[in-house]
Amino acid sequence: MGEQHGLEEQRVGERPAEGHPVAEDPTAEPRIAAHRAAERDREDEEKDAYVFGGREPDDRARRLESTRLGALEDVFGPPTRTRLSELGVREGWRCWEVGCGAGGIARWLAGRVGETGHVLATDLDPSYVEGHGLPNLSVLRHDLLADPPERDHFDLVHARALLEHVAERGEALQRMVSATRPGGWVVVEDFDIEGAMTPAAARYYPPEHRALGERLGRALAARFAASGVDAGLGRRLPEMLLAAGLTEVGAALYAPVGTAGGPPFLRLTLGRLRPGLVAAGGMTEEEVDRVMDLIERPGFTHVPGFMVTAWGRRARA
Ligand SMILES: C[S@@+](CC[C@H](N)C(=O)[O-])C[C@H]1O[C@@H](n2cnc3c(N)ncnc32)[C@H](O)[C@@H]1O
Repeated sequence: MGEQHGLEEQRVGERPAEGHPVAEDPTAEPRIAAHRAAERDREDEEKDAYVFGGREPDDRARRLESTRLGALEDVFGPPTRTRLSELGVREGWRCWEVGCGAGGIARWLAGRVGETGHVLATDLDPSYVEGHGLPNLSVLRHDLLADPPERDHFDLVHARALLEHVAERGEALQRMVSATRPGGWVVVEDFDIEGAMTPAAARYYPPEHRALGERLGRALAARFAASGVDAGLGRRLPEMLLAAGLTEVGAALYAPVGTAGGPPFLRLTLGRLRPGLVAAGGMTEEEVDRVMDLIERPGFTHVPGFMVTAWGRRARA
């Protein structure tokens, strides 16, 4: 579809030959209208596309994204694993890890559920979970907005930092709920990094850099908004789980503080988003570079993001 639009764009965008102004071309207006429609479609398509996806990433880009996803797991894995343990994940459970990224949680779950259990890990691009060698972990390419792989089946369905990227969030959550067996758990985790959370995060910067930290927070939120990502979804998760009919709903907020030498999650994320932080976020290239440099300095502290973990149980039939 994108390629079709690309071709269409070139055709309708041709410059008229010298001496043939557009007004003399009887087909000009429909062509211009088609061009605008194609532009709008392309903008919508870019807005709907996964912001860290990239169309044809090369090997270096894939290595960086793999490291970024690993760093995300290093920073936000501990509260995920604690919560899933407290909900009782154990030997024999059937789990669906949705939008599995580099598969850190999927592999951990496979260890917990043992050989009598099973973990299904799905993603638009599951290629970052390669060579795991675990017999009880299956990895599939799957769009959460497609039909769920099984209905009324899983003891646990979990997704972290996924729903915020999906346009039809309520629909996507409903698919996770319908895949869960009655009595099973749905656990969703998303960032809350906009609005009042921006100055709150900046308070964890050294005092002389708080203004820069706040500027970065606003730029990130603007960059995500430009791609249709809901950077404040985390705080709405509990009400979404209640609206989806789940019971025993609870939630917790996690605020990790990063220091030099820690997982490079924020630095690699800024590297990926740099052009958009300038274009949509109003930062200068120098400001982005400065933050990327500062977060690697000994003594410097920052919050790479507030993450909300929310859980609820499908009512027993
Ligand atoms: C920010 S990453 C988080 C990865 C992983 N959940 C974690 O927390 O480490 C979001 C992941 O969701 C995947 N994703 C985005 N939209 C999706 C969709 N509609 N269906 C399935 N996966 C999707 C992306 O490919 C990416 O791997």
